[in-house]
Amino acid sequence: MKADLLITNAAELATPLGHPEFKPAEFLILHDAAVAAFRGQIVWVGPSAEVKKNVQLETPAQFVDAAGKTVTPGFVDCHTHPIFFGAREDEFEMRIAGKSYEEIARAGGGIRSTVRKVRKASKEELIAAALPRLDRFLALGTTTIEAKSGYGLSLADEIKLLEVIRELDALHPLDLVPTFLGAHEIPDEYRHNKSAYVDLVIEEMIPAVRERGLAEFCDIFCESQVFDAADSRKILTAARDAGFALKIHAEQLTRTGGSALAAELGAISADHLENTTPDDWEKMKASNVAPVLLPGAVFFLGKERYAPGRQMLDFGLPVAVATDFNPGSCMSESMPMMLTLSCLKLRLTPAEALTAATYHGALAIQRGNLLGTVEVGKKADLVIWDAPNHKHLPYHFGINLADRVIKNGKVVYEKPHE
Ligand code: NIG
Ligand code: FE
Repeated sequence: MKADLLITNAAELATPLGHPEFKPAEFLILHDAAVAAFRGQIVWVGPSAEVKKNVQLETPAQFVDAAGKTVTPGFVDCHTHPIFFGAREDEFEMRIAGKSYEEIARAGGGIRSTVRKVRKASKEELIAAALPRLDRFLALGTTTIEAKSGYGLSLADEIKLLEVIRELDALHPLDLVPTFLGAHEIPDEYRHNKSAYVDLVIEEMIPAVRERGLAEFCDIFCESQVFDAADSRKILTAARDAGFALKIHAEQLTRTGGSALAAELGAISADHLENTTPDDWEKMKASNVAPVLLPGAVFFLGKERYAPGRQMLDFGLPVAVATDFNPGSCMSESMPMMLTLSCLKLRLTPAEALTAATYHGALAIQRGNLLGTVEVGKKADLVIWDAPNHKHLPYHFGINLADRVIKNGKVVYEKPHE
């Protein structure tokens, strides 16, 4: 087997195993393991002792001794809002003083305050603001993110955001999978005419985004005071008819029927899901709707009610976990932090949390055949952790254990020497 990247002597290689069915993945642990890749693709995985007889290194090749370290797939963060301008640390302080996220939004803050800043920013400014965020994702072990628009809320500004996502994908080693989220909030100028904004999304934005090929998914914030189930049905149906794959922010703060709608419309994922019931899970399972849980947003909003991750997984759903990175409800690019929350708040084991953050995340963005496991044929997106086994990833929290991050078979991040 020809290879141009070889990682050997890993104390542990920990990975989910891909499969064609819609159910939770099995998990594999190998000790003293090696991985070889050629031209960005994994070509061999096995015990270090068997490398010699199986792998021929090309010149030039990259060689990594992972003695004492753990190798996993790169994280697939399948729900992020990474393109915004400015920040909302004052709202954070208001929330600490007792104001709720919903109250702040009603008073004109929240998403709308970020929209005002994004509308004034140029593409260059948005790119410059986003690049350090992408560096942080990568340094923390994430190799692919789904990236939503949604802070423009006008035709021109939504297109501007999606073009920025496209440019960042080309500029940065991280892969960005674009989602159009024109229905993220009702913008200031439509506060008294929501239905006109819904029409604008359907009649102008969806066709324009589609025509320019700027997004693969269409998403909506289905929530009381934002878009209800009827609005969501209208917008998502139009998006589906235009050729988008669908996502939905569902049952986060209240139960509005978003997850049942996701099942009805054949959405790829329904996200948040803090307020779902087994009835909803049944519908999602029957329609292969991936559940994406966002424990960082629950944590950061200071709420107590986490999605019932343990029960959903036991029910047979391939539960994914993502950051929901955004300036309001989760200002963190850290998937390792999400692993810790998944274990402690969703009651997943470290192996289940890692599966949720990699392979199940890949399923939630229709990349299950390409990403999320360390298996022959998959993209060589890997992380070498300064940890003796995968359990340390959620256990040793609040720090970065990534030693090297490999994207497409190339080392793109190395921990600075101490
Ligand atoms: O997923 N739910 C809507 N959007 C984000 C919050 C965005 C913001 O507050 O800026 C979320 O939680
Ligand atoms: Fe979100």
